[in-house]
Amino acid sequence: MAIWSNNYHGSMNEKAFEFNSSIDADARLVYADIAGSIAHAKMLGKTNIIPREEAEALVNELGKMNDELQDGDLNIDFSEEDIHSFLEAELTRRLGAIGKKVHTGRSRNDQVATALKLYSVSALEHLSSLAANVALALSEKAEQHLETIMPGYTHLQRAQPITFAHHLMAYTEMFLRDKSRLDDAKERVLHYLPLGSAALATTTLPLDRAFTAEALGFKDFSRNSLDGVSDRDHSLEMLADMSIIMVHISRLAEEVIIWSSQEFGFVKIRDTFSSGSSIMPQKKNPDIAELLRGKSGRVFGDLMGVLTLMKGLPLAYNKDMQEEKELLFEAIDTVTFCLEILPAMLNDMDVIEEAMLTASQKGYLNATDCADYLVEKGIPFRDAYQITGNILKECEEQNLTLENFPLEMYKKHSVAFDETIYKKVDLKECVIRRNVAGGPAPERVKEHIDAVKTKLEDY
Ligand code: ARG
Repeated sequence: MAIWSNNYHGSMNEKAFEFNSSIDADARLVYADIAGSIAHAKMLGKTNIIPREEAEALVNELGKMNDELQDGDLNIDFSEEDIHSFLEAELTRRLGAIGKKVHTGRSRNDQVATALKLYSVSALEHLSSLAANVALALSEKAEQHLETIMPGYTHLQRAQPITFAHHLMAYTEMFLRDKSRLDDAKERVLHYLPLGSAALATTTLPLDRAFTAEALGFKDFSRNSLDGVSDRDHSLEMLADMSIIMVHISRLAEEVIIWSSQEFGFVKIRDTFSSGSSIMPQKKNPDIAELLRGKSGRVFGDLMGVLTLMKGLPLAYNKDMQEEKELLFEAIDTVTFCLEILPAMLNDMDVIEEAMLTASQKGYLNATDCADYLVEKGIPFRDAYQITGNILKECEEQNLTLENFPLEMYKKHSVAFDETIYKKVDLKECVIRRNVAGGPAPERVKEHIDAVKTKLEDY
């Protein structure tokens, strides 16, 4: 029997009840809902809305239920409509008339909004620590490759030499921003407590909303009760933040897939993170990286789903919003799994330094350095650019590189050339000299890694 059953409301069609139920999805809110109910019961006692002893009985029993659920001594009854109905029914089964008082001055509308916010706070904290973990794992891998030369690309065309450390640290920055976005989102979730908004218009009972807000760690209570029960901005924000995380994960996954192809051969994913083919015995496929790339679609879908659900909803609560939780939870579970598996996959990925170097030696990645050499000799950059272009054309015709292009030939293009050009176009030197803050020089990247590690030590 639903908690709202009475003589006025006839019984529901069985299929409709099943359709209306959300307990399968919202069971995970159980601890958050208990915490919300404990704060509410304390407030009811403090304001003498119900007798203090009764409030204490409610608080104690809810505490016991919390422990029993954790120990597996209390099972959720999945035939209830939702987790809120289950908890009230269980409390009433245990405390009789006193149990029924827990819902004084409260509606499931402000209850669910509160539980969702409390749950979201823990989820945000967990996701934030996982993002930090990924940033740390990337930094640690980078530290092993400070001098591993690889081609840097634009348009997926070889552009300038960088190091593998520099490439990985770009992702570190992305995950650090992800972390800070999650931390910001948490602040906003905790800004306003919806509890006390009741169904939509508060209540005639003298609730002390400041008390419950403080008890639950919120900065304040929602200043408008209609907004309190109908706001799901925090879920949208969280979904947007998680979608951005998935953009980053999918970009890195895509690069790992490309690098592990035989065409690139920059990395080798160990068997622990690849799978085989049922027909081609030789295959080792980067399935885990592909799934990391593919899961982004699911999370973007969840964001789109909630945006679509919320769009055009009139104030205040509407049942559509029940659906929102399921999408949010799916995204949280997906992103959590991806953030957990990513560092493990990176750990089981061997870097083939030789292949990265060989690739860097083809494609005139040091052409800009040759032009810069002429600039240092006082030649205007645009002229230096043209001269280098002429040299490259000759290199191509003669099957030469800037490293083995003879000095007499250099000199034919410009009298400014002398033997120091060879040091200038040496790939290692090209990287070492890109010593500008934020650049790939091993010294700079090491500083970056150290700064990130120091920052993350606090978490
Ligand atoms: N299961 C509902 C939800 O998750 C709880 C709120 C029900 N409120 C209502 N007015 N029917 O949204």
